[in-house]
Amino acid sequence: MPRTPNVLVFDSGLGGLTVLAEVMRLRPDAHCIYAADDAGFPYGRLTEAALVGRVAEVMTRLIGQLAPDAIVIACNTASTLVLPHLRAAYPRIPFVGTVPAIKPAAAQSRSKMISVLATPGTVARDYTRELVRTYAAHCEVTLVGSDRLAAVAEAFMKGEKPADADILAEISPCFVESGAARTDCIVLACTHYPLLLAELKRLAPWPVTWIDPAEAIARRVDHVLGEEFGMAGGRPAPGAHCALFTAGIAPAAALKEALAARGIGKIVLEPIPLEPVDLQ
Ligand code: DGL
Repeated sequence: MPRTPNVLVFDSGLGGLTVLAEVMRLRPDAHCIYAADDAGFPYGRLTEAALVGRVAEVMTRLIGQLAPDAIVIACNTASTLVLPHLRAAYPRIPFVGTVPAIKPAAAQSRSKMISVLATPGTVARDYTRELVRTYAAHCEVTLVGSDRLAAVAEAFMKGEKPADADILAEISPCFVESGAARTDCIVLACTHYPLLLAELKRLAPWPVTWIDPAEAIARRVDHVLGEEFGMAGGRPAPGAHCALFTAGIAPAAALKEALAARGIGKIVLEPIPLEPVDLQ
């Protein structure tokens, strides 16, 4: 019998669920563990040194306990910084990262005016600026660092109805007009944001293409697992997929329901408290 691949999908909070859904769809044969470092949320406010240290600490614990066959860092804020550290520390584990989808946006845009909506951390990264220089030098690129949208998405998943004005305030700077041209593609460069996609579309000042890289990330996971485990079989993984929370607080009913609707039947509480760290 072929062994069931064990895939760890990691984010600071609930955003990585957008990636998890695509991984589960493409690889029903994989057993998925979703790990939310909710004790460290939001990562967007941590200094680079604090973020590298925090992700290393949590990863060391999770890898030791779960022995995953592949790890998805379903977080732009972390991926744009920590992937080289993780790959050097665990050379035998394949890591799949999530970085701003600037290349496809630049290719798809007709007006050549694109915006990148991300956490303040991701917007400030050299990695992000380099993606812009490499793939979008021919475009007018607006980088928008949102302080609050990831938290709005978290609250939404916990059953709260976000105020339109709160969402609008965060997305408005993405919509830029220049003469007859205007923004036509917006990169969702934080995995939390696609959780709000219906709201984003409803509140957008004009229609744009919202670029969510989740499916492309899942294809990469499929490729990585394919090398080790072959193609996905028809047989779904035995046992319940699970979600783990580092704050050690059991999710309230609405979130539990949302997780169950996403195929997560088991909750694990694994307290990993965040030591006092520097904020940017
Ligand atoms: N979901 C995360 C990302 O993709 C970050 C949210 C946060 O912790 O600030 O960037």
